[in-house]
Amino acid sequence: MNGQVKFAIVGCGNIGSRHVAVVNAQEQASISALCDVEEEKLKSLTAKYGPIPCFTSFDELLENTDADVVNICTPHGLHAPMAIAAANKGKHVLVEKPMALTTREADDMIAAGEKNRVRIMVVKQNRYNVPIGLAKKALDSGKMGKTYMVICNVLWNRHEGYYRDSNWRGRKALEGGALYTQVSHFLDLMIWWFGDVVQASSQIATLSHNIEIEDNGTARLVFESGVLGSLSWSTSVYNKNYEGSITILGENGTIKIGGQYLNKVEFWDVQSLPLPEDVVFVDKPNFYGNYQGTSSNHDKVINEVVADLLFERHNTVEGDEGRKTIQAIEMIYANQEGIRK
Ligand SMILES: NC(=O)c1ccc[n+]([C@@H]2O[C@H](COP(=O)([O-])OP(=O)(O)OC[C@H]3O[C@@H](n4cnc5c(N)ncnc54)[C@H](O)[C@@H]3O)[C@@H](O)[C@H]2O)c1
Repeated sequence: MNGQVKFAIVGCGNIGSRHVAVVNAQEQASISALCDVEEEKLKSLTAKYGPIPCFTSFDELLENTDADVVNICTPHGLHAPMAIAAANKGKHVLVEKPMALTTREADDMIAAGEKNRVRIMVVKQNRYNVPIGLAKKALDSGKMGKTYMVICNVLWNRHEGYYRDSNWRGRKALEGGALYTQVSHFLDLMIWWFGDVVQASSQIATLSHNIEIEDNGTARLVFESGVLGSLSWSTSVYNKNYEGSITILGENGTIKIGGQYLNKVEFWDVQSLPLPEDVVFVDKPNFYGNYQGTSSNHDKVINEVVADLLFERHNTVEGDEGRKTIQAIEMIYANQEGIRK
């Protein structure tokens, strides 16, 4: 790789264009190709970043690119087939969340990585949020004592046009459900802290949008470590995002990370571990014109991927960890309790 990692980015929509921007800004990274079925998106990116080889067919991209890594930023349902095809061409993969729609697909992706000796890496940029790092430190230090409960709220607004103007959002086959899109980051963090989800039950409903998937849900969870969890999610919140929060109740401490996208410490009371006074909360959300997503720490993910590949480290989230979120989502959807009308 000669001190430089070459990236090819497939899917140049909302998040793909952010990948282009952060790869372009990273000194040890370069963009070797772009791919999207919509030529206009490719044209607007090359107008901004200069000439880059562009493809409207993923197969052609794979035949022609010298990239070391293929960044997969297409709708969820395409993640697995594209990742497997890229791995079979000897490319490392950086796939957007959710890694896949089923654990079976995730297993096939991991197997393709192993067979071809390439890495299957998954974007989990919220792990780099400042408040998340502080909570991780508090939990790892043992200062929280035994953890009892975790309460997670993802209460957001997604207007009708968000679904209506997309050819994949709200569709069962390509999006799967709101847990894959809005909640997978939150599940990843809870699993990172408290272990796999080992028990789940849920109720879901489609209440305010004309879509094939749910827009409201609640779930009760049990994590491997015995921590009890409650999860509420909605894309039906009036007017704008209200809250994206995780509250942790421990023997010797209570922490609430909140704001709209896990960017603030709302409450911190941990025995012999006061919240440091000099913390700067710098996380910013991703803006997509008329709606707002979670944190935009993609630059940190790209830095990690570059360092992992250049220095043979394994700090980026890889397939086996990405799979845990998919397993939890499958379990939550599989164990629905009926809603009494
Ligand atoms: N990490 C995060 O916080 C984050 C944020 C936003 C989106 N995402 C993930 O990124 C993925 C894309 O989301 P988005 O909001 O950017 O969607 P989007 O609709 O804005 O972009 C998807 C792009 O993929 C292109 N595409 C579709 N089929 C293709 C194909 N066969 N070959 C090449 N290109 C194709 C579309 O033309 C479009 O430009 C989703 O899986 C989503 O979950 C992650």
